[in-house]
Parts: sequence; C-alpha cells; structure tokens
Amino acid sequence: MRYHFRRLIYFLIALPISVILIDHIYNSNIPSVQSRSPFITIFHRNQTYRILSPSYHYNSRESYLNFAFFNVEQRNRVLYIDYLYDVPVSSQWQSKGHLYPIQIAQFGLSHWSRFRLQSQINQQNIYQFQHLQPNKDNQCSSWHQLPKEIPVLQTYIQFTIPLNSSLHFHFMNNNIELVYSSQLNRDIDISSKIIIPLAGSPRQVRRHMLTDIKKLSRRSLVDKNDLIQLQFCGESDSIIDQLIIGNQTLYDQQAFYSAAQWLLNTQDMISGCWFIHVQRNFGQQYRLRDPWCSAMAQGQAASLLVRLYALTNNSEHLLAIRRAMRPLWSSNISRAYFNDQYLWLEEYPLEPPAKGLFVLNGCLYALLGIIDANTVDRQPHLDKLIDEITHSIAHMLPHYVHPKISNWSVYDLSHLTMKNKFNAASYSYHLVHITLLQCLSKILKETHPSVSQVFHFYAQRFMTAIS
Ligand SMILES: *[C@@H]1O[C@H](CO)[C@@H](O)[C@H](O)[C@H]1NC(C)=O
Ligand SMILES: *[C@@H]1O[C@H](CO)[C@@H](O)[C@H](O)[C@H]1NC(C)=O
Ligand SMILES: *[C@@H]1O[C@H](CO)[C@@H](O)[C@H](O)[C@H]1NC(C)=O
Ligand SMILES: *[C@@H]1O[C@H](CO)[C@@H](O)[C@H](O)[C@H]1NC(C)=O
Ligand SMILES: *[C@@H]1O[C@H](CO)[C@@H](O)[C@H](O)[C@H]1NC(C)=O
Ligand SMILES: *[C@@H]1O[C@H](CO)[C@@H](O)[C@H](O)[C@H]1NC(C)=O
Repeated sequence: MRYHFRRLIYFLIALPISVILIDHIYNSNIPSVQSRSPFITIFHRNQTYRILSPSYHYNSRESYLNFAFFNVEQRNRVLYIDYLYDVPVSSQWQSKGHLYPIQIAQFGLSHWSRFRLQSQINQQNIYQFQHLQPNKDNQCSSWHQLPKEIPVLQTYIQFTIPLNSSLHFHFMNNNIELVYSSQLNRDIDISSKIIIPLAGSPRQVRRHMLTDIKKLSRRSLVDKNDLIQLQFCGESDSIIDQLIIGNQTLYDQQAFYSAAQWLLNTQDMISGCWFIHVQRNFGQQYRLRDPWCSAMAQGQAASLLVRLYALTNNSEHLLAIRRAMRPLWSSNISRAYFNDQYLWLEEYPLEPPAKGLFVLNGCLYALLGIIDANTVDRQPHLDKLIDEITHSIAHMLPHYVHPKISNWSVYDLSHLTMKNKFNAASYSYHLVHITLLQCLSKILKETHPSVSQVFHFYAQRFMTAIS
C-alpha cells in the first residue's frame, strides 16, 4: 500500500520539478572550465585517479570533489539500473540487490559534477526521432536505422514510454536486441533479447543502453561502432513523441535528478534517515543496528539535496536537508564515541553501540554534508556539531597512520576497538583520505584555523606515501 502511494507521489511531483530544473539550468551562468586544472592526475597500476590541486575551490552548489571522474554504474557492485527510478541497484552485502542510499547519492553527485564540468563541451551526434508510431496495418513501426556515427558509448536515450508498448533496439553486428517494454504480461522470447521491464508507464525514461547491455547480458560488445536499428510497438494510437539519442549532458542532468527524486521519496519523515535494511556482521559479536542509518548516507544525500535546493529554492527540498541532518546532531543513531570522549559520525553504526568502527572516509564525507547544509541553512546546532566533530577528527587523525607502512593511512580503527589486524587503506581509499582532508582543510581555513592546519598536515603526510 505504502509502496503504491509512494509511486503515485513520484509521478505527481516528478514532472514539475524536472521543468523547474531544466529552466534553472538553462538560465544560470555556467562557469568556464579553468585553464589551470583543479585536479592532479595519478596513474597507478593501469588505473587513473585524481586528487585535488591547489587551484581547486569547493562550492556547495558546484561539482563535488573529484566525482566527475567517477563512474558509479560501471562498478561491479552495481547489479543493474533500477527499472522505475533509473538509479543503480547495489549488490553489496545482498546478492539479489537493494537500493543503497550511499551509492545512489554518489551516482547523483558524480553525474551532477560531470554536468557542471563538461556541459560546455559541444556534443556531436545527437539524434532525435519525432512521433514514433506503429504502422496502420500492424502493431509495430518499421525499423529505423540510426545514423552510423553513433558510437555505442554514447547510447544515452530519453523518451516517454506509453502504456502497453515497447521500444526495440537491434545492435546488428553484436546480434543483441534490447527491449524497453511496458507490456509487462506479454510473452516475449526472452532468450534472444534483453528486456527492460518499465513499470509505472506512462513515464519518462532515461537510460544508457551500453550500461543496460553490460549489466543485463553476460556478453560484452564485440563491435563498438555497431549499426543500430530501432522499432516501436504498441497499440495503434500509442506514440513516442520524441526520442533523443546521444545527449550525454542531458543524461547527466537527469541522472542527478533521478537520484534526487529517489532520495526525496524514500527519506523517513520522522528520523530523517535513509534506512538500510541489509544485514551485516562484524566478527562474531558486532552487527549493524537494524535498520541502520549511515552518517555517510545522510551527509552525501544532504550534499546532493543542497545542490538541488540551490536550483529550485523549493522549501520542501530545504526541509529534506534539515531532516537529513537530524540523526547527526539530535540522537546517537548514527554516532559513536571514541574512548567515551570523542564524537564520531559512523558510516556503519554498530550494535552494541559502545563499540565503533570509526571509518575515516565516512566521517569526513558526513562532515562535508553538514558543512554544505549549514551553508544554505545556517543553524546553531550545526555550528556546534561542526566544532565538535572537527575537534574529534583532529585529535584522532594520529590513529589513522599505519604503524608499519610509512605514512600510509588506515581505513578504520577496528584494530583498537575490536583488536583486529590493521585495516590498511586500499590505494584508492588512501587517495580518498587525501582528497577529503585537502578539501576540508581549505574550507575550514578561516573558521577553524588550527583544525585546518592539522588536516593539511595529514593530507601532506599521506601524500608523501604516493609521491
Ligand atoms: C597493465 O596493462 C598491461 C597491458 O595491458 C598489462 O600487461 C599489465 O599486466 C597491467 N598491469 C597491471 C598491474 O594490471
Ligand atoms: C494493456 O494491456 C492489458 C493486457 O493486455 C489490458 O488489460 C489493458 O487494457 C491495456 N491497457 C491499455 C491502456 O490499453
Ligand atoms: C543536450 O542536452 C542539454 C541539456 O539539457 C541541452 O542544453 C542541449 O541543447 C542538448 N543538445 C542538443 C544538441 O539537443
Ligand atoms: C527563495 O525562497 C524564499 C522563501 O520561499 C524567498 O524569500 C527567496 O526570495 C527565494 N529566493 C530566490 C532566489 O528565489
Ligand atoms: C549520546 O551518547 C553520549 C555518550 O553516551 C551521551 O553523553 C549523549 O547524551 C548522547 N546524545 C544524545 C543526543 O542522545
Ligand atoms: C612521512 O611524513 C612526514 C611528515 O609529512 C615526513 O616528514 C616524512 O619524511 C615522511 N616519511 C617518508 C618515508 O616519506
């Protein structure tokens, strides 16, 4: 019942917001990409990473850290892109998949960042089909050939799907047929086709065909410049007014909006939490509180909603940001205390609560979310929380230096609280630590100079380990 109600709300509010969004984006001045790059590129074991350069300036409305270079949907932990919300479904800790607020917030923030940084790039090869309709004498249109130049990488599609219809894409040389279908009961020969069942039609659909193929078939594409044909099937009066293919900017903008919409629809109105229901144990004695409320999810979702609110100025969005902050300051549902003394914002709040994991990056992301929220909606309790948590982090940073690997960081403090082995940060998490400390040190320079210096010192120290 509740689910259906939510779905209804989704459709009621989806359209007006998207119109506002597009309007604001068209009318705002997009800052030019600076010639001196805000990022430093690092190559390591065939991977490319980015940290922040001295010319990087954080702004709560603009791109988020180095997330423009993230590709959340390509991660192995993304099972597929959800059929109703067009957001990633995570397989982390639950193989059948679940909607994981941290991953969804990251998906939205990465597309937002790409949109802000790359929207000036002049895109080529964007195609539009108007008025796709079945032929008079049968249920389908004829096959239309897409222009040859459309690379498989750029197969971003946007359209509104009517009831009881299906849009078919045939990748000729790869011999794959991808079907976006709202005919949920019809028999379709599944073996030769990849079917995306689109619930809730009529509705807007924003997908990346390459991602759908990668996630849903076990095959990889052989021909990256394949010939693609398309066909629309449905009842005689059904129609797709406009199908846009290849507009990545539009996709980035809408993926941000899909994530925002999911977050607005699924927040618990009382606690402000995006509750997570998957089970996870740590050793034999500890497990996540069920359901759990991750401080990192609260912080990253707030960072995303702050960017939405900067566009919409909609008071509902402001209230969602305020609610997101609630578990971080008004209860201990997402918090722990180190040595009964230092407050911490827990990515994974454990039971019993006396024990904590003290994951470093989760707390730093949560802090950034609080700073973002406080920028658009200054509150005395958030000022106080920022003072308290920055003080804790500055005191606890020495514990995050690996004792055996010179100037390398550790991921959490389970070696102290659970007597585990040192949990050395992976290469990519070590860079995440550097990036977050660099950014926060700069943000806090004026308001918290001594904390800022400590953050800067540890960012530099961790840097020596990779240079
Ligand atoms: C990096 O790529 C090269 C060439 O593709 C490969 O031979 C090598 O094993 C890769 N190295 C690592 C560390 O993955
Ligand atoms: C869609 O198809 C179903 C099952 O074939 C049918 O019951 C329903 O009336 C159709 N809806 C519309 C709007 O055509
Ligand atoms: C692609 O989408 C962007 C963002 O909505 C829009 O500004 C741009 O005009 C579109 N490009 C084309 C060629 O339609
Ligand atoms: C935003 O909304 C507030 C209150 O609803 C209003 O006072 C303010 O002028 C609005 N600002 C902009 C830029 O629209
Ligand atoms: C959280 O726990 C600490 C330590 O046990 C306690 O002092 C504090 O009052 C609690 N805060 C809230 C808001 O419940
Ligand atoms: C570790 O970091 C400290 C402080 O930045 C620096 O003085 C020291 O040289 C670094 N050690 C190594 C081995 O790079």
